Amino acid sequence: MRFCWFLSLASFSSVSLAATAADWRGKSIYQVFTDRFSLTSTGSTDACDVTKNEYCGGTWKGVQSRLDYIQGMGFTAIWISPITLQVPGGYHGYYQTDLYHLNDHFGTADDLKSLAADLKSRGMYLMVDVVPNHMGWPGCPDTVDFSQLHPFNDASYYHPYCPLNNYDNQTEAEVCWLGDCNTEMPDLKTEDATVAAGMQDWIKSLVSNYSIDGLRMDSVKDVNKDFFPGFCSAAGVFCMGEVADGRADYAYAYQDYMDSILDYPMYFSINRTFQQQSDMSDLKYNLELSKNGGTGGSKDNTLLGTFIENHDNPRFPWSTDDMSLVKNAIAFTILSDGIPIIYQGQEQHLAGADDPGCREAIWPTGYNTSTPLYGHIAYINQMRNFAQSQSSSYLTYKNWVTNYTADTIMMRKDIVRTILTNQGESGGSYSLTTEGMGFESGETVVEVFTCDKYTADTNGEVKVQMSGGLPRVLFSESILLEGFGMCVLSSR
Ligand SMILES: *[C@@H]1O[C@H](CO)[C@@H](O)[C@H](O)[C@H]1NC(C)=O
Ligand SMILES: *[C@@H]1O[C@H](CO)[C@@H](O)[C@H](O)[C@H]1NC(C)=O
Ligand SMILES: *[C@@H]1O[C@H](CO)[C@@H](O)[C@H](O)[C@H]1NC(C)=O
Ligand SMILES: *[C@@H]1O[C@H](CO)[C@@H](O)[C@H](O)[C@H]1NC(C)=O
Ligand SMILES: *[C@@H]1O[C@H](CO)[C@@H](O)[C@H](O)[C@H]1NC(C)=O
Repeated sequence: MRFCWFLSLASFSSVSLAATAADWRGKSIYQVFTDRFSLTSTGSTDACDVTKNEYCGGTWKGVQSRLDYIQGMGFTAIWISPITLQVPGGYHGYYQTDLYHLNDHFGTADDLKSLAADLKSRGMYLMVDVVPNHMGWPGCPDTVDFSQLHPFNDASYYHPYCPLNNYDNQTEAEVCWLGDCNTEMPDLKTEDATVAAGMQDWIKSLVSNYSIDGLRMDSVKDVNKDFFPGFCSAAGVFCMGEVADGRADYAYAYQDYMDSILDYPMYFSINRTFQQQSDMSDLKYNLELSKNGGTGGSKDNTLLGTFIENHDNPRFPWSTDDMSLVKNAIAFTILSDGIPIIYQGQEQHLAGADDPGCREAIWPTGYNTSTPLYGHIAYINQMRNFAQSQSSSYLTYKNWVTNYTADTIMMRKDIVRTILTNQGESGGSYSLTTEGMGFESGETVVEVFTCDKYTADTNGEVKVQMSGGLPRVLFSESILLEGFGMCVLSSR
């Protein structure tokens, strides 16, 4: 099957101006874990032993050579691993030693610039992972030679050593060190004006040198909140922070200091719901909570990063191989309010365990574009890209639950109506009458996975055929005729 997602908004996006939160809202992000995505020379299928925690050979040139594969799924941005120089073995990028030198395992400055230019020519954005909290040192805390770290080359730029054990103590999270005697992470004194200014000089220069459009900021919980407004403003681009915490009130509070955070509270809820650990009231509750701009809610949930997998957690299929469940979870990721983020390998149904298990190399899959989830992701990104091209209110219209039962939920986000279920593959065939969908009486409604057509009743509802626990997405046929490219081709 071929997917025509050619009507991307890409061609209209600004070329020279720095990318803002509003520019990012409509993007769909593919997360690249650089060392494990693609080798420079094509054709290798060497496995990568994730348990060794060593470099496996992925490069920026490799990423560039696979942009068709990524863009073929409808993505309009990529997020890559940190790019700075590392301690030996720092394949993930979170153990930096010199902010002003690139990680030469990933390539040269020219390689990175070439990747950035290629993305730009495709109308895609480049998000780079950055680590303001700490540097890396290959040994115990008392062996750190600060003069080896750059540009923060003196102990006075760091918090005095204390091991971070208790995340419930916020002070401890901010001032104590992550790591162990294999690799310590000297904790930068980011509340210090000199350190903050040094970080601002650095990020400004980095963003400009490599044409970066957005930042993913690591270990945000471990940094004083006041650090971020100055840092992000010096960067001058969209900032999304990693606040790895499921408590909505705790996590969303960080959005007062940066554009966006990774939506961990929603992640846990999606996982519970679509792994059949809780019913749809869990998802409904969390969606409504995230939308609430007040206490406990997000300031703007349409800017949050929505995901179900990343390089730090067990993959979704690690605990279930049910194809319908993962298809529903992916549909929610892409069609709810946030900026969707799909982690490399989801399209190949990889099933790795917790870190390091979830950091499999992608090359052994052969970048197969015929897998069920490659097509599924491509098709749903196509729906989202199309919806925003057809309705200027789509991206800021907040997804709402029109009705739900224990195992089925109906949602409406402007011109896109979604019906999801956690019944799994064993879900039967039955017809479901919608509620609150708001179609015009008598209009033709198309379910875009099956291309089934329905006529809306006098209440503007339809009776949708459900089957095998698969998701359903409804559009007015009149909107699809504007150029969706699927289901309506024959009627053009
Ligand atoms: C929290 O951590 C800080 C820094 O380690 C420590 O000084 C303080 O006593 C801790 N507070 C509590 C309540 O344990
Ligand atoms: C950016 O490029 C300039 C000019 O080559 C260089 O002096 C500076 O160190 C670079 N900045 C970073 C963060 O790499
Ligand atoms: C997701 O759900 C599965 C199944 O209940 C569970 O094993 C896994 O730990 C969950 N993931 C997270 C990060 O909570
Ligand atoms: C690609 O995936 C499809 C669907 O899973 C499978 O039938 C096909 O054999 C795969 N192609 C290769 C080259 O592995
Ligand atoms: C929602 O669905 C239930 C069936 O689960 C139904 O009884 C109810 O009338 C529907 N509508 C509303 C507004 O709750």
